[in-house]
Amino acid sequence: MSYGVILCDPPWRYSFSRSKSRKVENQYPTMTLEEIKDLPIDDWAGKRGKRIGQGDPCVLFLWVPAPKLEQAFEVLKAWNFSYKSGFVWDKKRKGMGYYGRGRHEHLLIATRGKPGVPKPKDRPDSILEERRAPKHSKKPVCAYEAIERMYPDKTKIELFARNRRPGWDAFGDEVPEEKAA
Ligand SMILES: C[S@@+](CC[C@H](N)C(=O)[O-])C[C@H]1O[C@@H](n2cnc3c(N)ncnc32)[C@H](O)[C@@H]1O
Repeated sequence: MSYGVILCDPPWRYSFSRSKSRKVENQYPTMTLEEIKDLPIDDWAGKRGKRIGQGDPCVLFLWVPAPKLEQAFEVLKAWNFSYKSGFVWDKKRKGMGYYGRGRHEHLLIATRGKPGVPKPKDRPDSILEERRAPKHSKKPVCAYEAIERMYPDKTKIELFARNRRPGWDAFGDEVPEEKAA
């Protein structure tokens, strides 16, 4: 099935970490850039056009930690999406980092085809403010709410989800089985 909205939080692999105890792999398995680029995105986004940005209408929201920004644009290209804009999540709490103590993460917005833009009244503030939860990599609820407000009528899937959110399909190795009706 193809979706009008894809929210994706890839398990980005880091080539180094200050100590073994801080490795992302202690939390969940990660993927190389090439593995992420090779994901079967057309299974979720539908038909791919000949040129970047062409194909079935789809809006992609891609979570990207600051050190992975350059790689994220490679992913958009490999997936045939055109970069449009982005949000920044202010985690309201300092994290780790080799240059600045990371307090923000990017949520890039990219499209295929012509999915359209939200009505002016449904365009959220581009700064998402919500205190980071203790669980590693957990994304803020306000991001889901912003996307639902922007595109209330589009079918939605979250890739590399950990939970199921009503109104969304979910893919990920930690997603709980769907309860029988
Ligand atoms: C960055 S975390 C996602 C966090 C999630 N967005 C949240 O808010 O809790 C990446 C997730 O992808 C899962 N994952 C890693 N490799 C996977 C694979 N090959 N197939 C499916 N899921 C995978 C991890 O186990 C982890 O749950």
